[in-house]
Amino acid sequence: MAHKRAWWERGIIYQIYPRSFKDSDGNGIGDLRGIYEKLDYLQWLGVDAVWISPVYPSPMKDFGYDVSNYTDIDPIFGTMADFHALEDEIHRRSLKLIMDFVPNHTSDQHPWFIESRSSRDNPKRDWYIWCDPAPEGGPPNNWLSNFGGSAWTFDERTGQYYYHSFLPEQPDVNWRNPDLMHAMFDVLRFWLDRGVDGFRVDVIYHIVKDEHFRDNPPNPDYQPGENPYHEFLSTYTADRPEVHDIIAGMREVLDAYRDRVLIGEIYLPLERLVAYYGASGRGTHLPFNFQLIQLPWHAQVIREAIDNYEAALPEYGWPNWVLGNHDKPRLASRVGPAQARIAAMLLLTLRGTPTLYYGDEIGMHNVPIPPEKVQDPFEKNVPGMGLGRDPARTPMQWDATEHAGFSQVEPWLPVGKDYRTVNVEVERNDPHSMLTLYHELIALRRREPALAVGSYSSVPAPHELLAYRRQHGNRQLMIVLNFGHNPHGFEYSSSLGRGTIVLSTHLDRQGEAVHGRLSLRGDEGVVIQINAPQ
Ligand code: NOJ
Repeated sequence: MAHKRAWWERGIIYQIYPRSFKDSDGNGIGDLRGIYEKLDYLQWLGVDAVWISPVYPSPMKDFGYDVSNYTDIDPIFGTMADFHALEDEIHRRSLKLIMDFVPNHTSDQHPWFIESRSSRDNPKRDWYIWCDPAPEGGPPNNWLSNFGGSAWTFDERTGQYYYHSFLPEQPDVNWRNPDLMHAMFDVLRFWLDRGVDGFRVDVIYHIVKDEHFRDNPPNPDYQPGENPYHEFLSTYTADRPEVHDIIAGMREVLDAYRDRVLIGEIYLPLERLVAYYGASGRGTHLPFNFQLIQLPWHAQVIREAIDNYEAALPEYGWPNWVLGNHDKPRLASRVGPAQARIAAMLLLTLRGTPTLYYGDEIGMHNVPIPPEKVQDPFEKNVPGMGLGRDPARTPMQWDATEHAGFSQVEPWLPVGKDYRTVNVEVERNDPHSMLTLYHELIALRRREPALAVGSYSSVPAPHELLAYRRQHGNRQLMIVLNFGHNPHGFEYSSSLGRGTIVLSTHLDRQGEAVHGRLSLRGDEGVVIQINAPQ
């Protein structure tokens, strides 16, 4: 008997960047009521859980990732009543709600930091990371901010520096302080008590830093012109051994409730990433696996990544895969529109929880942002290097009306120029659209336990193809994906038996019989149901 899988193992997660999903009150910025209005769409699409990026009160220096109050809703997004209405409706539809938890840093406007910076002997002084200047003056060490420049800002009033992994307006808290830790755990309980189904934890691997403040070593692979943050390795500022006990503490908080999920945002190499499952399941349930975002888009590279990942998982570790998020270039721009369909089929047929990023399901591209419209502080601090995240955060394209049906007024970021054809309404009515493909793939994953929870085994295939089998009981599916633009024949062992194509990325071969040999068009992927042997 297969072990009954949890909702976050079987389900599909959909990330919403709330500023850009749907504006209900006509200020050009998306909000909670907007999300509420679009729940019919999400339910039709077939996803199981919605993760919303931060909606807490914030000065919005980093668009909500600078939280000034962890237990309320920013008026720009609505009220606590709007939050409850949304949550209730999500649950009424048997969907789940995942909140974003940002425990590495607060806003500099958070009352904790205002107290902490008020004097050296304030009881909250130690809730943040304060350090004397270096003996020769200047910042205490060479630690860099992810958003450019030193990670240390001098505070005139008390004559010390405070540390910030991101903006100076985002001071890092000190997780070595037990009071801070308990206050953060109470934040989790506040939302768990209100029924949220879990958290995506922002930069969870950053939350503890070296207690001796040692300099980070230079990165031997750094090339001038790259993101300046990578000039040094993050040896002493991320992935410190002490982090795992803290995560175990978070997990304990969640485990006191039924069926909640802890997801970690972690950009680390595979062998370090899997450590975040924790010893015997005391870590995150899902350490986000970003390999598909980071690796070159080649069949052999991806095959190897999948096989290595499968092999590296601890025995209790459930896999997961992510194709896009609000920090990375859009999938369709990265791999091209034709391969974006292959990526969709890959994501939704692999073993492990898939996370989709809003708009990728209609094939939204990076939207060029003219300099005067730039919003992202990363682009403002480190301009012109293509690091800015605005292009992947533009308004959801709902229909062909002005502002793409996102808002009645000009939105906070420009709408993609292709919105008259790349939008939900047009694509829902087009049997060959990207959205129809996502809809079909999601429906297939939901009805096929072989896809949702079955085993994975890789099948040898020529250079540009990726092939694998998924199996549950006597139900067997084979997936074959052409990562190239040219047609390809594929001979597979006829001992697998006769099969029937259940889905092609081109949405036109359903029901076609195959037996040992398959022809694929350029950029085509298929899911084949292998018939049980006679
Ligand atoms: C990761 C988030 O995804 C990103 O958007 C944010 O800027 C940083 N963490 C800082 O919170």
